[in-house]
Order: sequence, then structure tokens, then C-alpha cells
Amino acid sequence: MSSLAAKHNAVNLGQGFPDFSMNKKLISLLNTAMLQGHNQYVHMCGLPALREALAEKCNTLYTSAINPETDITITPGGTYAIYTAFTTILQPGDEVILFEPAYDSYIPNIEINCAIAVPVSLSYPDYKINWEEVKTKVTAKTRAIIINTPHNPTGSVLDENDIVHLRSIVKDTGIIIISDEVYEHLIFDDKTHLSMLRYPDLAARSFVCFSFGKVYHCTGWKLGYCIAPEALMKEFRKVHQFNCFTCNSPAQYALAEFLKDKDQYMQLGKFLQQKRDHFYNCMKQTKFVALPSYGSYFQLYSYKKISDEPENDFAVRLTQQAGVATIPVSAFYKIPVDNKVLRFCFAKKESTLEEAVNRLARLY
Ligand SMILES: Cc1ncc(COP(=O)(O)O)c(C=O)c1O
Repeated sequence: MSSLAAKHNAVNLGQGFPDFSMNKKLISLLNTAMLQGHNQYVHMCGLPALREALAEKCNTLYTSAINPETDITITPGGTYAIYTAFTTILQPGDEVILFEPAYDSYIPNIEINCAIAVPVSLSYPDYKINWEEVKTKVTAKTRAIIINTPHNPTGSVLDENDIVHLRSIVKDTGIIIISDEVYEHLIFDDKTHLSMLRYPDLAARSFVCFSFGKVYHCTGWKLGYCIAPEALMKEFRKVHQFNCFTCNSPAQYALAEFLKDKDQYMQLGKFLQQKRDHFYNCMKQTKFVALPSYGSYFQLYSYKKISDEPENDFAVRLTQQAGVATIPVSAFYKIPVDNKVLRFCFAKKESTLEEAVNRLARLY
């Protein structure tokens, strides 16, 4: 959709990246780190000062007991952390339960390890997990469950009831949880992010994956990290060592310093919530109908009142004719499910969001 957006000079609300500037202080810290000569390899598991800052942050936020030496590895982005976690644990024929619509890397990551993806559809239109169905999908071969909260593409979030069900399903099994929490701070309406790190029994079987790109508006830096208990992390590092080995050094120095400013991440939910609300209020001029978004960069809108075309066709036509690019939600399923909903990314400047809505309102 991004190529199509470029071809038609469309406002790109498809791909999930901010079009506003990242914090200038972080840019300057990166520059300083380079000028100070921090341009050579750092420790394979990540700069110790960065891991210490992250452990302190998580232990405070999630009352966890993370050891920065043994439980954290800095990775080139959240996607890589997820891939490495899968590669660490999967053997051919293993099964992994995932929830669709799903972030697009999960199934290829599972299949490249010769494992089997077992999709469970989230219910429409609230995109909740049907735990009774999950129970029926668990077999002796279930090696992992991957969860994502706040969720891309739907903006749904896990609640305490989900945690109760997850806990009862994995109890007394060897099932590993891979928890994609790259949107941990992008959570709205006073909801609480239920990280796996909050629950010692779940954390003990989890690889929890994060992304600096999403927190600091620098998706192009491609830096993230994975947190897991020592025994799991030891194996994760064996895969990491001969794949990436070590990540960008000056960025790690800069982030270790920048993490001291808690407001930068604690105020993020409020900042993005304002964007969600601004976009939502502008979209009232159109016939698109919003589905709730409680987190992430995204909100889904139904176009049922406008057209009954398949999602993909409508999204292409919207890009070509209205000049606004979105992502059809059916693209996030192995076997496409067509509910006539599109994903809009609202992590954009207000002027970008307004321009997109003006274009849509002219036609719809
Ligand atoms: C659910 C989810 N997980 C992981 C990522 C990737 O994060 P990173 O850019 O750090 O690899 C994204 C990015 O869009 C995402 O939406």
C-alpha cells in the first residue's frame, strides 16, 4: 500500500510510522555518543548501562524482578526479538497458537522454523479472544502462544479476564508465551498495560518483546529488546550471537541516558490518545464508522455504509481515487476474513490527519 500511496501521491495512513519529528534531545544524545567515540561493538547482549536502565524501568512499572545481566538482550527491533524467540524454541512440527488479525511477521517466523501456525480468529467487532476456542486448539504439540497487547491492527488490549484464561490454559504445560508488547505505552482511556512481566508465573514462561522505535518515534532506528527468565534468555542469546551478534552502539548510549526522563514514555499514551481523538472527531464528517481503539498507532473504521466491495479492492480504490492509503484488515489473516474494515494509522501530524479526512469527506 505504501508503494501505491507513493504512486498516487496519497496521504499514507497505511504504514505504522509517525510523520512528526522524534525528540531533538535524543538526536543530540546520539550525536554526542558518536562524537565521544562510542562507535565500536558493544557487549553481545547490549550495553550494560542500557540494560540496567531497562531493568529499573520495568521493575518499577511492572513490579517485576528482572536481572539486567541475565534477563535482557538488546535486539535490532521488536520483530527480530520475536523471530529470535521463535527460532530459540521451535522444532519442526511444533504448533504455535496465534490470534488473527495478526502482525504480519508471526506466521512467516513460525513457518521458516518448520513449525505450524494455528490461527484463532478474534471476535468481530470487539476483537476479543475466544478462550473456549483456544482450549480446543491446544494439543500435545503446542509449543507456544503468541499474544500482542495493545494489538496491531485492531487497537484491542488484554484485560484481567484474559490473563485468568491464559493462566489456566498454560498451567501445568510446557507452553511458552511470546508476548509482543511493542505498544506498551501507547494505551488509552486510563487502561492499564497488562505486561506478562506483572505476573511471575506467566513471566517465568515468557519472551516479552519491546521496540524503542515505537516508544521514541524512531522506527527507522530499528532497536528493541527481549526480556525472558535466565534459562530461556541463555538459549535466545545462542541464536542472537550468530545472527546479529550486537546492535548499534551509539544509539544504545543515547537511549541509556534518555530513559532517565520518565515523562517521555509515561506521557506517550496521552499524546497518542489526543491524535486518535482528533482523527475520530474529523472522521465524523464521513460515512466511515469507527471501531474502538484502546491502544497502538491504529484505529479500524468500517466502510459498510459506503460500499460492499472486498476490503482489498476498496483500499486500492481509496488510494487511487480519494488519495488516502490504508491497510485492509483482511491482509492480517492467513485466510482473509472480510468484515469491510480498514486500518488507519493516526500517529501523524494533525495537518496530515486533516488532509486525509478532507480528501475522504469529498467523496464519502
Ligand atoms: C505488533 C508489532 N510488533 C512488532 C513490530 C515491530 O517493531 P520493530 O520496528 O521494532 O521491529 C510492529 C511494528 O509495526 C508491530 O506493529
